[in-house]
Amino acid sequence: MKSPRLEITRPDDWHLHLRDGDALASVIGHTAQRFARAIVMPNLKPPVTTVAQAEDYRRRIMASLPAGSPFQPLMTLYLTESTAVEEIARAKASDGVFAVKYYPAGATTHSDSGVRELSRVYRVLEAMEKHDLPLLLHGEVTDPDIDIFDREQVFIERHLVPLQARFPALRMVLEHITTRDAVDFVSGAPANVAATITVHHLLLNRNALFAGGIRPHNYCAPILKREAHRAALLQAATSGDPHFFLGTDSAPHPREAKETACGCAGLYTAHAALELYAEAFEQAGRLDRLEAFASFHGPDFYRLPRNTDRIALERTPWNVPEEYPLAGSTCQPMRAGESVAWSLVETAAS
Ligand code: NCD
Ligand code: ZN
Repeated sequence: MKSPRLEITRPDDWHLHLRDGDALASVIGHTAQRFARAIVMPNLKPPVTTVAQAEDYRRRIMASLPAGSPFQPLMTLYLTESTAVEEIARAKASDGVFAVKYYPAGATTHSDSGVRELSRVYRVLEAMEKHDLPLLLHGEVTDPDIDIFDREQVFIERHLVPLQARFPALRMVLEHITTRDAVDFVSGAPANVAATITVHHLLLNRNALFAGGIRPHNYCAPILKREAHRAALLQAATSGDPHFFLGTDSAPHPREAKETACGCAGLYTAHAALELYAEAFEQAGRLDRLEAFASFHGPDFYRLPRNTDRIALERTPWNVPEEYPLAGSTCQPMRAGESVAWSLVETAAS
């Protein structure tokens, strides 16, 4: 019997870490094989804070693509307390920068140049609202007095609600949401507020951090939450609501940076991203809604054309390698040494 097949419009990844240099060259192929475009995170060291830097980074990404790949990186700027208001007009006028990323200082990998006090960037946010440039939010407070599992919820109450009241027309994406609270906030918000959902937050709950021992490769920011939250995310992703779209947050780290006394946050999922999303949607009995989540809601929010070519998956399991090369080291991907239920069909018949 032939395996079930699923053919959809080629998707985009609306939240991706591509790194730079040799690491970029190691990982870009996985994304370019599946996605037409990706919103590329600016948390390099040093961060990408100006349009000129974003254009240089874009050229390095293009140069590392496999020959003939039509993949398009969509660049972002890293918001700092010294971002110049004029940079926003420059970004809007450029044809390469599509959004500005807010990291609370200290929230995650390479976020030390982030914002400590939101009021210090109000003038920049005003310019973004005026120029209609989306703000992408890492939505967690960094207050050490707040329990790590509550940091997204508290961010929404303390910062997002006031931000929305102050800048009602600003387009905002609450990135990599992890809680029912975020789902409730975003689904009740107007159409200029949206959220991305990662595949690891759809498939894993916080038990995956401690399955038989501590699992550093399942540690990410925001941290995995309890099952009720995972279920709420799956419900949102598969609901057909255009507020929610695909953003992998695939974030490769060398093995030695994860398997150490103070390991880095981030899961590498680019090698099997769409296949894993298909598993999640299948689990919810809603494979029919994968296409809208993966290929329509994102471009509609960013006001970009939907892709026209197609991609096919088939329900043939394959085994994920134990590791992939990452610059001079290796990276352990999600599902390392285990199987993924769906596989990519190399040439999609359209
Ligand atoms: C990201 C990284 O490694 O750059 N890590 C992560 O756990 N998601 C940063 C981020 O998006 O928070
Ligand atoms: Zn990220």
